[in-house]
Amino acid sequence: MSKAEITCISNQKGGVGKTTTTENLGIGLAQQGKRVLLIDLDPQGSLTIALGNQRPDDLSVTVTDVMRNMIEGAEMPEGYGILHHPEGIDLLPANIELAGMEAALVNVMSRETILKDYISTVRKNYDNNETIILSILYMPCPT
Ligand SMILES: Nc1ncnc2c1ncn2[C@@H]1O[C@H](COP(=O)(O)OP(=O)(O)OP(=O)(O)O)[C@@H](O)[C@H]1O
Ligand SMILES: [Mg+2]
Repeated sequence: MSKAEITCISNQKGGVGKTTTTENLGIGLAQQGKRVLLIDLDPQGSLTIALGNQRPDDLSVTVTDVMRNMIEGAEMPEGYGILHHPEGIDLLPANIELAGMEAALVNVMSRETILKDYISTVRKNYDNNETIILSILYMPCPT
């Protein structure tokens, strides 16, 4: 069985359409009958809000918890933290807690592979040629 394709929408510049592109690509693929997992990696949680979660800070589990568990090697139940949108899109949401994770990662070994390692644990659930995982990356611009 072929693996899900992974697409990352990322740009250092703000306000260039990262969230809008991710949301619409995800919805378009879902409308074509494909399973989609969107991973919000922006502490603003704009994608999380756009998909109907008006108060991301009230969510009990987000991508920050998933990353923390990955760092600590803690076991997570299948699909931990993933929300299921009625229109066929899965979402791993984000909120302001992710801002703290950026600083915490500085001292973490192999920090560059945490997300890759996480995606490899969920990729099997999206394991057919029709499925795409999208992630959106927020990169603060050091000025
Ligand atoms: N293709 C497009 N054509 C016209 N307007 C667009 C397009 N894509 C996005 N926009 C508009 O541009 C603005 C910024 O888009 P968006 O929030 O997706 O950017 P972003 O890169 O995610 O921003 P941020 O860095 O703040 O997360 C929004 O008002 C959005 O409606
Ligand atoms: Mg955005």
